Amino acid sequence: MARLIDGKAVAQQMQAELAEKVATLKSETGIVPKLIVILVGDDPASQLYVGNKERAALKAGFESEIVRVPETISQSDLLDLIENYNQDKTCHGILVQLPLPNHINDQDVLLAISPDKDVDGFHPMNMGQLWSGHGSLIPCTPAGIIKLLDTYKVELEGKQALVIGRSNIVGKPMAQLLLDRNATVTIAHSRTKNLAELARQADILIVAIGRGHFVTKEFVKEGVVVIDVGMNRLADGRFVGDVKFDEVSEVASLLTPVPGGVGPMTITMLLEQTYQIAKNKGLS
Ligand code: GUN
Repeated sequence: MARLIDGKAVAQQMQAELAEKVATLKSETGIVPKLIVILVGDDPASQLYVGNKERAALKAGFESEIVRVPETISQSDLLDLIENYNQDKTCHGILVQLPLPNHINDQDVLLAISPDKDVDGFHPMNMGQLWSGHGSLIPCTPAGIIKLLDTYKVELEGKQALVIGRSNIVGKPMAQLLLDRNATVTIAHSRTKNLAELARQADILIVAIGRGHFVTKEFVKEGVVVIDVGMNRLADGRFVGDVKFDEVSEVASLLTPVPGGVGPMTITMLLEQTYQIAKNKGLS
């Protein structure tokens, strides 16, 4: 029976430590880390996510503001808004919640965020830095997963890691971070052939494919470490991961639950990176 990776507990501990670091920074430099979250439109899931981010930020002593703009905003008005916060010296981190409406080009928006305030790590410059092994602002979900693996003392060097999913937000940066730790990394996706067989070779399985209960017991070998990034809403409103928890927990040695696994770590890393930007500013 797998041991559970308690992401909620790790996140709470880290956020409590962060609150102390924020208080110290404030008393020593007068700087209060500030996170701006821009929400375009009123998608219910996005509203929930940005609300959670703001609540955690305020609780840890950050300043935080959700800037809500209508779905109909023009791309140029959105870029102007971002530029205002690029120039605003009291603002340390800027995040534009995705997805964006169809009339707005995601890539143009991500390019407009100043790379040194890009707490999501989605700017092409930060992505390139990560791929060349010099990342500093890195996507929060994979960063949080590495923190969890470290906390649970999962050895990565020389291990076979399989990442299922190739998104810019999770799969690709995850593969790079595992490579940085000397794992042997494979990236699989919806078109991969013989995926279950491939997965059975993995010592570490990271699943971010966005399909509920996709990974069954056929995908796992005895003792595997499984990280489930999925958040799939069922018809009855419940959320399930990409992993069939009941089956896989019989075989895995370590497994993240959904909810309470990866999700709380994403927010924690977002705050950690906002704090680091503010702190570096205090030193310069
Ligand atoms: N939408 C879903 N996940 C994310 C994320 O990590 N960052 C942003 N900006 N939007 C998201």
